[in-house]
Amino acid sequence: MRHEQATIRTGRRSGLPIIIAVHSTALGDAVGGCRMHSYPHLFDGLADALALSEAMTLKCAAAGLDFGGGKSVIVLPPGGTITGEERRRIFLDFGDAVEAFGGRYRAAEDAGTTAADMAVARERTAHVHCLPERLGGSGEPSELTALGALAAIEAVWQHIAGTPSLAGRRVTVIGLGQVGSRLARCLAEAGAELTVTDIDLDRKDLATEVGARWVDPATAATTETDLLVPAALGGLLSHDLVTRLRCAAVVGPANNQLTDDAVADELAARGIIWAPDFIVNAGGVIHGVLMDIAGGTRTEARTAARAIGPRLAGILRQADLSVTTPHAVALEAARGRVAAAARRTD
Ligand SMILES: NC(=O)c1ccc[n+]([C@@H]2O[C@H](COP(=O)([O-])OP(=O)(O)OC[C@H]3O[C@@H](n4cnc5c(N)ncnc54)[C@H](O)[C@@H]3O)[C@@H](O)[C@H]2O)c1
Repeated sequence: MRHEQATIRTGRRSGLPIIIAVHSTALGDAVGGCRMHSYPHLFDGLADALALSEAMTLKCAAAGLDFGGGKSVIVLPPGGTITGEERRRIFLDFGDAVEAFGGRYRAAEDAGTTAADMAVARERTAHVHCLPERLGGSGEPSELTALGALAAIEAVWQHIAGTPSLAGRRVTVIGLGQVGSRLARCLAEAGAELTVTDIDLDRKDLATEVGARWVDPATAATTETDLLVPAALGGLLSHDLVTRLRCAAVVGPANNQLTDDAVADELAARGIIWAPDFIVNAGGVIHGVLMDIAGGTRTEARTAARAIGPRLAGILRQADLSVTTPHAVALEAARGRVAAAARRTD
């Protein structure tokens, strides 16, 4: 394990396993969202927390934030929606688990959790962020995640076609949750010819609203398209899938898109640009850190999220110059910043 700490505790009210992983605090307290999801096994949840917290370290380092990487996972039993008192018990337990870290890990919402859930956790700890605006919080970070992802998509298209304009470009979005739905609306406004999917068929309404073509989730990734935008959960890009992709680039907000780092090389070998996910989806953590922790304004946070575009453009140029992948360039820079900070604190 390359992590500073990982804990699993059973919520005393909910009986559910709550996993918190702190990958690194070399740059500062660890920040990272709370994912609530149904996993086949507890250890799948642990593996997700470990991988996601490491990605948070890279994300903060690459975005120039003085924070480290952490992540929490609440492991749900299979099936069913959790609401009402049952949900409240889970997030009181979650607040206790976060409090046990004494501020070394600070949480906010992620896939499967909301600002309202964080407001419940706040009853047990001060170290949760992005509460609902009606309660004086900074609200859902997904708006800035979508804004940053849009800036990244435009930067990739500029790199490929010499223009950031997405008008008439074929863009396929996989996953229409908190981030994907907002991003799909932005892409529709930008004039993209949209194809969308989600395993939740209720999301077809959004497809109709934005004038997008709906495809089956099983075939969405291999649809012929200019830009493929993963906005669901991780692990989409496997060795097998890469051989079947029919796109010029993959650039989207989903965390941990690669099943392993070698997939980035295979994408490059096929001439497909892959924009490193931890660069593309930093808008959410920028929201949390700048607005909630540093007390900045929404305008400042939006400006910082838009800066993801130029940052990614620089990485793509550097990769071309060095004849390597954008993934290798981004990893080296982020790991270098963390290693330098660790040396200073030794
Ligand atoms: N919320 C944020 O601000 C934020 C920040 C950074 C990164 N991310 C990452 O972005 C991704 C989406 O986050 P979110 O907050 O929108 O989550 P969410 O849970 O709101 O949405 C995920 C959506 O993906 C759908 N989905 C799941 N599996 C699918 C599949 N196989 N095919 C198609 N659709 C599928 C779900 O039905 C859901 O609608 C996650 O990987 C998350 O970690 C989110």
